[in-house]
Amino acid sequence: MRIAAMNKILDEAQIARRLDELAAELDELYRGRPLVVICVLKGGIMFFADLVRRLNCQPELDFVRLSSYGDGTSPQAKIVLTKDVELSLRGKHVLVVEDIMDTGHSMEFLLRHLASKGAESIRLAVLVDKQERREVAVRPDIVGFSVPSGFLIGYGLDYAEQYRELPAVYELIPTEE
Ligand code: IMP
Ligand code: MG
Repeated sequence: MRIAAMNKILDEAQIARRLDELAAELDELYRGRPLVVICVLKGGIMFFADLVRRLNCQPELDFVRLSSYGDGTSPQAKIVLTKDVELSLRGKHVLVVEDIMDTGHSMEFLLRHLASKGAESIRLAVLVDKQERREVAVRPDIVGFSVPSGFLIGYGLDYAEQYRELPAVYELIPTEE
């Protein structure tokens, strides 16, 4: 893909305001309950870091890493877990924090993997719910923003491992060829 333009679709202030709202909801939901917040590396890092800093419910933090082969704009079917959680989830509530849900295969795979670990509940939070290409029945419980389609970068989201560091979210506009 050759990039013709980058259109900012979520700025820093918008993201911050939405995270304040989500953190308030999550504190309400998990107050007084044992909670493990799991970051899905690498894309979830910004959303996770900014969200957990707003929580007052004293969660434990852990990380998983999923890899899907290929680094282009179309997600591949082959998904592998290259790093598992290290904390025990038994009897605890779990919140998975992911950057974006597209076809949904990655999150279906991860939730199925985590389901065998004895958690009291498992919920999924995604910064962006991109709904048009959804191929599975899994639905995120907590959604930052919904978009129908488009390839997004920034705030953890990459194109070929670049642009994750940008503080805002942009849509990549490819050149027409
Ligand atoms: P899935 O299709 O829901 O399994 O999404 C697989 C993965 O593809 C996501 O976790 C992201 O890492 C990546 N992905 C999907 N859509 C985008 C996008 O618009 N920008 C950057 N990465 C994306
Ligand atoms: Mg991801």
